[in-house]
Amino acid sequence: MAAPALSLEGVAVNRAEVPVVHDVTLDAAPGAVTVILGANGAGKTTLMDGIAGLAPVKAGSIRLDGTAIEKLAPYKRARAGLGYVEQARTTFRTLTVEQNLIVSQSRDGDLDTVYKLFPELDKRRSLQAGYLSGGEQQMLVLGRALVSAPKVVLIDEMSLGLAPLVVRRLMGTVTELAGMGIAVVLIEQFANLALDVGTHVHVLRKGGVVFSGPCAELRGDEQRLHRLYFGGPPLSASTTDTASDAADTATTESEPE
Ligand SMILES: Nc1ncnc2c1ncn2[C@@H]1O[C@H](COP(=O)(O)OP(=O)(O)OP(=O)(O)O)[C@@H](O)[C@H]1O
Ligand SMILES: [Mg+2]
Repeated sequence: MAAPALSLEGVAVNRAEVPVVHDVTLDAAPGAVTVILGANGAGKTTLMDGIAGLAPVKAGSIRLDGTAIEKLAPYKRARAGLGYVEQARTTFRTLTVEQNLIVSQSRDGDLDTVYKLFPELDKRRSLQAGYLSGGEQQMLVLGRALVSAPKVVLIDEMSLGLAPLVVRRLMGTVTELAGMGIAVVLIEQFANLALDVGTHVHVLRKGGVVFSGPCAELRGDEQRLHRLYFGGPPLSASTTDTASDAADTATTESEPE
């Protein structure tokens, strides 16, 4: 794997003084989609908020292109190259599409890249964002993360409330982002869609990582996913410590206490 753009080691994140996420170690490579899965309340958003600086990181290190960012203010993390598409984030409804992009733009940011990815937005540059469809709104939210020319983009549940066709369209965009060399970290409720576009996956349960490995290993395996999400007796098939000659394809599966 290429040197990770984002690297977490032993990360713990609190929410309102309560420990929620603990001991998370994972990498996200440039040009790849790293998937984070887990049931409601597993701690996925809390982990993303910790990476972005919106929730306090209580232990561990977070490196962006090799530089420690866990003590930086959120805007400095963004400036260092971290884009964050927050769960249920919305647009500025009374601003036009173009104005929405401009307010998020950094010096290196480029609106044309966004318009090329989303011709739907190009056609509606002068329209107030409040008039966009749900799918177009989500495109604009993604676009706003991209005009800061990020190295890493965290995407939290972008498919929420959208029609399946639109979700598939947006998954195509996620692949394109990786194709541009961005390290994408994708949280997604439709596990199989995410596993289709991802390379590596980490499953969170009760704030801890219970599986790390290649997406191919979990693709289509509803039974195993269910067990990873909610716990339960081990399956009869060999599911632990898959032998591998490369560290980046190694699979680890563990039970939280
Ligand atoms: N502001 C908060 N104050 C206290 N506890 C919180 C807060 N936000 C989240 N939590 C708790 O932290 C835990 C993890 O929540 P989080 O939102 O990170 O889960 P999630 O995996 O993103 O879930 P979902 O799939 O529903 O988005 C939950 O038990 C939740 O109740
Ligand atoms: Mg969430």
